[in-house]
Amino acid sequence: MTARQPTVSVLLEPGWERGSLVEDVRRGLGSQPRTLPPKWLYDEVGSQLFDQITTLPDYYPTEAERAILRTHASDIAARTDATTLIELGSGTSDKTRLLIEALRAEGRLHRFVAVDVSEATLRQAAARLASTYPGLEVQALVGDFTLHLGHLPEGGRRMVAFLGGTIGNFYREERAAFLGALADHLAGGDWFLLGTDLVKSADRLIAAYDDPDGVTERFVGNALAVLNRDLGADFDLGAFSYVPLWDSRMQRMDLRLRAETPQRVRLPGAGLEIDLAMGEEIRVEISTKFLPDQIDDELVAAGFSVAGRWTDTDGDYAVTLARRE
Ligand code: AVJ
Repeated sequence: MTARQPTVSVLLEPGWERGSLVEDVRRGLGSQPRTLPPKWLYDEVGSQLFDQITTLPDYYPTEAERAILRTHASDIAARTDATTLIELGSGTSDKTRLLIEALRAEGRLHRFVAVDVSEATLRQAAARLASTYPGLEVQALVGDFTLHLGHLPEGGRRMVAFLGGTIGNFYREERAAFLGALADHLAGGDWFLLGTDLVKSADRLIAAYDDPDGVTERFVGNALAVLNRDLGADFDLGAFSYVPLWDSRMQRMDLRLRAETPQRVRLPGAGLEIDLAMGEEIRVEISTKFLPDQIDDELVAAGFSVAGRWTDTDGDYAVTLARRE
């Protein structure tokens, strides 16, 4: 049997990247405390550095999630009646294969939809999946999962997967908005599978985000390199140090870059000029860690009921199955 070609729909306007980067930078860097949204960390260099992070001995989330899916994908699949699997922020859809296979084994899955902003990665991943699973209809949606939930395909029983712990990048209000919007766009009975990192000791968290070889530091520092390249900014990358903090009150890692000298930075592409005081910090990413009860509360508040939870043997990470009420 020959594989069907995946269909690819591009939901983003040409040139969207620049406009939305400029907006994000004006809003984030032009206000106090200064912030940059993590979505801009994943250019080619950043994506490669992130891949490298996932292989670091102390960075446990990726392997923990993979272990959970390897062990429990068939239980997860057996609890659902999904005919369409939709993955948000799918990247290479690497771990998703475990889910696809488990759902295929249940005999109902006939469509896989991958949603990601990175068109090149998405096209490649979709083509690969289509050839691995002949008979599975593969669709790729090039879009931003915070903007384009209204474009998710309808029909059948859907299961939306949001893995990798990416939800930890959102602030509480953003999480509530995202979960609410997702619930709005799903039908009663549809499924949601969510991957979240769990609260653990500060030592282990710091170790996961402060590796001795400086891979994470380069990943976070790449945020400034992106602005130098895309906005013609003149950040002196060597003048910043990496500050990974565990914020125990907010239960999140707070990854910052600190200006080691006072400096004026021009960002002509954003029409912005900023003065950084010595020691001033730019927050580049948060990575929220959850307690199981909190995950349940937030899902329920958004209109889901919790149908199951699986953790790795160390209890580091959770995959939660929820159902739209
Ligand atoms: C991809 C957002 C889940 O928060 O652990 C890893 C990103 N940043 N090391 C995370 C990240 C620094 C990662 N997420």
